[in-house]
Amino acid sequence: MSDTPLNIALIGFGTVGTGVARILTEEHEQLRVRAGRELRLSRIVVRDLGKTREFNPADVPISSCIDDVLNDDSIDLAVQLVGGTDAALEYATRLLGAGKDLITANKALICAHGPELFQIAADGGRTICFEAAVAGGIPVVNAITTALTGNRIEAIEGILNGTSNFILTQMLSENQSYDQSLSLAQELGYAEADPTLDVDGTDAAQKLVILTRLAFSTDVPVGEMSRKGIDELTLSDLEAAASLGYRIKLLAMAKLNNGQLETSVQPTLVPQNRELAQTQGADNIVTITGSAVGRLGLAGAGAGQLPTASAVMADVVDFATGRAINTFKAVLRSRDQNPVEILPQDEQKHRFYLRCTVDDRPHVLADVTDILGRHGISISSLLQDESRMATASDQAARLIIMTHRVSEGQMRSADAELDALSCVQGNCLRLPVAD
Ligand code: NAP
Ligand code: HSE
Repeated sequence: MSDTPLNIALIGFGTVGTGVARILTEEHEQLRVRAGRELRLSRIVVRDLGKTREFNPADVPISSCIDDVLNDDSIDLAVQLVGGTDAALEYATRLLGAGKDLITANKALICAHGPELFQIAADGGRTICFEAAVAGGIPVVNAITTALTGNRIEAIEGILNGTSNFILTQMLSENQSYDQSLSLAQELGYAEADPTLDVDGTDAAQKLVILTRLAFSTDVPVGEMSRKGIDELTLSDLEAAASLGYRIKLLAMAKLNNGQLETSVQPTLVPQNRELAQTQGADNIVTITGSAVGRLGLAGAGAGQLPTASAVMADVVDFATGRAINTFKAVLRSRDQNPVEILPQDEQKHRFYLRCTVDDRPHVLADVTDILGRHGISISSLLQDESRMATASDQAARLIIMTHRVSEGQMRSADAELDALSCVQGNCLRLPVAD
């Protein structure tokens, strides 16, 4: 046991920062034993000093100036829990430059600027830890970089955004509207400061980029990933999928396909007997297929104050004990392997769910199926439910079409023609099926 405490600065004292301060305070003695030295919260930095805080640790100075940390030589470790990529990047760069080691939960930062920050840290002999940046309380960064290091990773598949999964669960199981469910996710501290990032798939894509770098040594730009969010889904899509034996989940996937890397983040129809389909609320799940271990799954809270703080604290204790430097070196070494070629989006193949709202008049089915047929898309089932889909007022009918396996490219060209049909109201929705 060392007599020298580890002095920690907390930058950001919102949902996650408050959780970290609580654990550091409430588990102080147990953490001292596990870390082999006292973990002392020495300073907190926030944006707005006037805010009322739900937890106020005793005797810890709070300021709104990062220089208070930069200029404090007694501080060893900065736990930065500020979102976005503006102030977060500036602070991270300056903190590393001032000789502080860094822990962050900011996936946007690590996705967009991880490689340059890692290089700055490596050049200065510093460490960066980011376990909490992916899948909240689930230790997936550690699993890939250390526990599964004897494997060639073949596939990573999972639910990486708690807010989206919470909304989908609330809509289908609790009969709440999309807007009510999103508001509740925000109240519970699951959502990003800008929740668009959760519901449009960006947050899950950022996390998948981070995992893909670690597992496949390949940098897939977010813009080159097939990406769609849950914001186009309606309750009737969730119900239609359920009636066909599926749940719709925002699925993130990176897998090798004949030596090429296929990646996507999309709402996907998952057979309802799979664990993925049964992942409820803000929980996340990550299944990893390794060459030696086979398929293994990690599941649990993917967002929220204490689960995320749990992952941050694992990094803090790893830092205090000296384990973090080894994990960081493994992260650095993951850059040294040959990247895998990326499979173009249009060549990815799936079965698809297609929902089109169409005019309820003669020849419409023929027009729709003609387009699919001309693009070589074979229909597996087609549903037009008179009792539920048609409305007298707008003379609309809803078609639910399940296709056989075809390429994204075929579907994309068919989509464009379908959306241009005069009988199609709005745009058709196309989702892949994971079976
Ligand atoms: P949050 O509740 O919005 O808290 C952000 C904190 O950062 C606030 O205390 C804010 O200060 C402070 N801050 C913002 N800009 C600042 C600036 N320029 N200078 C100093 N302080 C600044 O966010 P959060 O939910 O805790 O998330 C923090 C990070 O963790 C984000 O990157 C997020 O993506 C990530 N994360 C969150 C979760 C989750 O479940 N919430 C899970 C995993 C990862 P004020 O309090 O004064 O406004
Ligand atoms: N907003 C994120 C989510 C927080 O809902 O998953 C956890 O990264």
